[in-house]
Amino acid sequence: MITQKTIQEVMNTAKVEEVIGDFINLRRRGVNMIGNCPFHDEKTPSFTVSPSKNIYKCFGCGKGGDSVRFIMDHENLSFPEAIKFLAGKYRIEIEETENTAQEIEHKQVTDSLYIVNDFARDYFTDVLFNRTEGKNIGLSYFKERGFREATVKKFQLGYATEERDEFTKKAIDKKFNIDHLRTLGLTSKSDLDFFRSRVMFTIHNVSGKVVAFAGRTLSSDKKVPKYINSPESEIYNKRAVLYGLYFAKDAIRKADECILVEGYTDVITLHQGQVENVVASSGTSLTKEQIRLIKRYTQNIKIIYDGDAAGIKAALRGLDLVLEQDMNVKLVLLPDGQDPDSFLAAQGTEAFNAYLKANEEDFIFFKTRVLLDETGNDPIKKSLVIRDIVSSIAKVQEPFKRQLYIRQCATMLDLSETILNTEVNKGITSDLKNKRLNENPTQSQPITNPDELLINAKPTLSEDEPSLVRNDGWQERAVCSILINYGHEIFEETNATSVANFILDSVQDILTYFDIPLYRKIIENVDERLKNGIVPDHSWYISHPDEEIRTFAVNALSSPYVYASWEKKEMFLQTQKMPDENYVRDVTNGLLRLQLRKSKKVIKEMETYLHHASAEEKASEEYMINLKVYQVLIGQRNEIAAKLGTVTL
Ligand code: CTP
Ligand code: MN
Repeated sequence: MITQKTIQEVMNTAKVEEVIGDFINLRRRGVNMIGNCPFHDEKTPSFTVSPSKNIYKCFGCGKGGDSVRFIMDHENLSFPEAIKFLAGKYRIEIEETENTAQEIEHKQVTDSLYIVNDFARDYFTDVLFNRTEGKNIGLSYFKERGFREATVKKFQLGYATEERDEFTKKAIDKKFNIDHLRTLGLTSKSDLDFFRSRVMFTIHNVSGKVVAFAGRTLSSDKKVPKYINSPESEIYNKRAVLYGLYFAKDAIRKADECILVEGYTDVITLHQGQVENVVASSGTSLTKEQIRLIKRYTQNIKIIYDGDAAGIKAALRGLDLVLEQDMNVKLVLLPDGQDPDSFLAAQGTEAFNAYLKANEEDFIFFKTRVLLDETGNDPIKKSLVIRDIVSSIAKVQEPFKRQLYIRQCATMLDLSETILNTEVNKGITSDLKNKRLNENPTQSQPITNPDELLINAKPTLSEDEPSLVRNDGWQERAVCSILINYGHEIFEETNATSVANFILDSVQDILTYFDIPLYRKIIENVDERLKNGIVPDHSWYISHPDEEIRTFAVNALSSPYVYASWEKKEMFLQTQKMPDENYVRDVTNGLLRLQLRKSKKVIKEMETYLHHASAEEKASEEYMINLKVYQVLIGQRNEIAAKLGTVTL
């Protein structure tokens, strides 16, 4: 493990504008710098870097964070990998604590598996390019298929000879462990080479490491399997690997779309034809893990299928899974008998792209159309189709999008929108029930987007609703936002404590009344820190291990004028233009507002209790005490209201 000291040193040294400047062109604008966002496609720059706060934020796609986060997202690295990356840039020596024996052993095993695979890949490519058998059979086959030499090299294609155990012998000579060779499926139980007389495809994980191989036979003998693949191992989980993703990830991000094809050769040909945002599921239907991989780069999937009946069926299978993950899915059917590889090779890139554009169809509409075509006038078949479509629409996460589907599909199915709506709602309810049954009931759903939370947190404005059920999300948010922005400043009125200390003291009593768990969590985290004598600064929030806190912090720090919109939501803060200069007033004011709301809430609860107490209860001592507490509460409320009066005047 990297020590905390090294992590701190890297974080203190890395300047966000320097780190990002290595990847994108930044221009100065006022105190900030701007550029085109690398995480989504844009023509006018909305990617903002703040050197003074040491953070970045894209106002287009919402991504933001510190240098480490940028490297993690941009280079697709884990946290420790990103720290190492930055340490390299700034020539900071990395201090690591000793790993446990178990960790060391595991690391050693996986490291050696990668080394064995690298050796195998080098062997297969060497045979392809330098040996007569490889050149005459393998390389000429690839050439025949139109693969250019640069493409063959880039994808690390190779050839396995017809020899029984040449590779295994070489590996043993090199002192590779026979168990590792077997684990990776390169060597059979009887010590023979597993891949023989086949052209070889190297399979990489998302960071480019060799995790597996696929060998394609060139024999037309139907009894010989066309492809044989490496078995799963500690370094190869086939459900979580997409062929070509390593080469496609940047293009996917740029295009904000991932094209999915079936075969290795499809990926390679499309790539060579400059359609680079393409990956293959290797002939199986998409898994959840693969969808999540894609989702790191885009929400949009376009699936290209061969135009035969089997292709269509395959297209429909498993796609509800993608909808569930909140992805947009489009399908393109190719003309009969063509696969993406042959189609592009025959038509050229331009015609290929034009075809995709003209023929892409939304998955749900596609499914509706295709299934309806099959039913004819059979009412029973049709009702089955409706049920199928309903279950797909119910998987769509976004309500607006769902509504659009309902409208359009109602027309296609010749049904009333209301009926379809009711059915979809039933589907949603039953999905939810199933989900709950499958989930650990104590685990709450993580909320990744605080704005989503705020939508729910907005106070309902109907006046006859008791304030008890009203939600204080906006006020809680205000306080947290001030805490993050100015917590480490000195609170002027007392001069002795920090703003954070002042806020924490003030919310201590009302914390249990917080409506929004995220805001309570922030306060509790800061409390913990303060108890250790440390006042958190910006960098602590934006590199916080909790994603929710981190995201909220970046948003809070990047929106200096957010107060302006609060006022419309019956917020009050005076200093809408330059909050930086007026934080003391904002702190005081914001806290009072929150306290007032909470105090009203507590009073309301108390009133309910006092009103509904039975005659017997009313005679009890507890009741008398509560009555006194009630009077104190009223006094406190009036005090807060009075203070607010003076502050807001
Ligand atoms: N596949 C497999 N095992 C097989 C057949 C197919 O793993 N016996 C997987 C491979 O990932 C293959 C994909 O399914 O790439 C699609 O199969 P197919 O279209 O038959 O192969 P292509 O890759 O298109 O190969 P070619 O163009 O050479 O026929
Ligand atoms: Mn093919």
